Amino acid sequence: MDERLKTFYELYERRKSIREYSDKEIEKDKLGRLLETLRRAQSAANRQPWHFIIIEKKDVKMLHDIFTKDGFKSAPLIIAACAEPQKAWVRKADGRNYAWVDVTIAITEMIAAATAEELGACWIAAIEPAKVREILGIPPHIEVVALIAIGYPAAPLIKEEKNRKPLEEIIHYGKW
Ligand SMILES: Cc1cc2nc3c(=O)[nH]c(=O)nc-3n(C[C@H](O)[C@H](O)[C@H](O)COP(=O)(O)O)c2cc1C
Repeated sequence: MDERLKTFYELYERRKSIREYSDKEIEKDKLGRLLETLRRAQSAANRQPWHFIIIEKKDVKMLHDIFTKDGFKSAPLIIAACAEPQKAWVRKADGRNYAWVDVTIAITEMIAAATAEELGACWIAAIEPAKVREILGIPPHIEVVALIAIGYPAAPLIKEEKNRKPLEEIIHYGKW
């Protein structure tokens, strides 16, 4: 495998959900690159039905009561990822709205970039969206998809075995 490919796959081998962060602040240029991955992400019919609220270290405190795990309080950055369903592509055949899918893709791209930047991240879906909405002043037509904690991990990212289903259980060749 050539070096570029190796670097790519190793990135995904190192990524894991980080729930304890070091005190080190995220450099502005790194944050800028992460935000650019959100902006450039793919979305159904290129509708980009998303908004992201950036909550930096000094303001993370206001979310402390939201967190179900204390470790998230150590995150120097929280990004509230939000969907705007009215702007999203809707599949005609069954009325499926793709807003959450699109937001999820953007988050996934950003987490991969964060890993490349030696940062750790964690999805936080176990929240009370109504409380987050109130604290962050999110308007009623916008849905809170997740909070994403980001920061330098308390312990370095290393390749680890994952507790995952075997391929035979999830891949179906040709037919179900
Ligand atoms: C949609 C989604 C929601 C999640 N919500 C939470 C959460 O609320 N709290 C938490 O600690 N981890 C959360 N996680 C992290 C998962 O628990 C984690 O991805 C999974 O256990 C696999 O571990 P890994 O990310 O380290 O590979 C979430 C992940 C995803 C993709």
